[in-house]
Amino acid sequence: MRSAITGGAGFIGSHLAEHLLSLGDEVVVLDDFSTGSRGNLAHLEGDRRLRVIHGSVLDRGLVERIVGATDRVYHLAAAVGVKLIVEHPLRSLRTNIHGTENVIHAVFESGSSLLLASTSEIYGKNTSDALSEDADRVLGSPLRSRWTYAAAKGIDESIAHGYVVEHGTRIAIVRLFNTVGPRQTGRYGMVVPNLVHQALRGEPLTVFGDGRQTRCFSYVGDVVPAMVRLAESPAAVGRAVNLGGAAEVSILDLATRIVELLESPSEIRLVPYEIAYAPGYEDMRRRVPDNSLARELVGFEPSTTLDEIILRVAASALRHGTADQTMALAVPGPDLLEPVSSAAIGAA
Ligand SMILES: NC(=O)c1ccc[n+]([C@@H]2O[C@H](COP(=O)([O-])OP(=O)(O)OC[C@H]3O[C@@H](n4cnc5c(N)ncnc54)[C@H](O)[C@@H]3O)[C@@H](O)[C@H]2O)c1
Repeated sequence: MRSAITGGAGFIGSHLAEHLLSLGDEVVVLDDFSTGSRGNLAHLEGDRRLRVIHGSVLDRGLVERIVGATDRVYHLAAAVGVKLIVEHPLRSLRTNIHGTENVIHAVFESGSSLLLASTSEIYGKNTSDALSEDADRVLGSPLRSRWTYAAAKGIDESIAHGYVVEHGTRIAIVRLFNTVGPRQTGRYGMVVPNLVHQALRGEPLTVFGDGRQTRCFSYVGDVVPAMVRLAESPAAVGRAVNLGGAAEVSILDLATRIVELLESPSEIRLVPYEIAYAPGYEDMRRRVPDNSLARELVGFEPSTTLDEIILRVAASALRHGTADQTMALAVPGPDLLEPVSSAAIGAA
């Protein structure tokens, strides 16, 4: 199998490249190294079945040449991370809409198949107990840049759907929920690497908002094999499939667990969203996946626990010297903020 991964030098893409090579595929990576890096693929460099091309999904001719020479495409290239989206809304929209359209069109022309990486952000502020794939989307104003990522990914899904309906193009969509693991950078606002890196450096852990917002983190090593099985599954064509973690945790409890597990001397500090990102920033209070469809289609059962995830992220940061990768706040300030008391942590 000849596979192409756009965004293959990123966090998830590099794990996917590793997994596809282990299955015997030839792999072409297309990446502009904006948030990803060659370093993420350094351990695979000796493998002659891997080709890494520095370029953009916005380059239509390049995308067509790469896609035309492959059997299956995994489209992961995107502007990712709340901080990046809020600071560069226009560039992010262009990449996430026009780049995706280029890839989908090239897949249609070449007759190959596509797995499109979408996101749980699609559901916006819908806080249901378990979000199934047909759940309603509840998005804030399009003039709040925070929602442009969800808006763009929604358009991507609709374009994909249009190609499936009108042309029979073989496209499956995965909606990833807070996927975490080694090689994820903290620079663009991802919470697990940020907090782990802060704990390793003995600095205050900066928890945004009141810390009671919850997420279900899933381990990249559980998610990537399911992505490949979905890409192979004829039953997944034309569908969007959730891939998320099994356990719901508040961010304050996550920070507390990180401090305990890593035996860090760090305090935990609450940072208002307007200091973290921008005035008027809105967050989701809760995001819980219903994984039934992924279970039914490919037997998806995420098994890596939160403790294992924290320890693996920490071990990787220490091994690769990346514990300096954390997000800079929009307004510097955690030193001015009160540490969270242990009573408040217990109540979260
Ligand atoms: N990590 C998560 O929790 C999560 C959740 C939901 C969805 N996703 C989706 O999964 C995919 C991968 O995300 P990730 O977490 O690995 O982030 P990432 O930032 O590590 O990966 C994105 C990759 O795309 C590359 N890229 C960006 N613009 C490009 C362009 N114009 N041309 C070519 N390459 C470009 C970046 O350099 C990077 O390597 C994205 O599509 C993202 O929307 C991730």
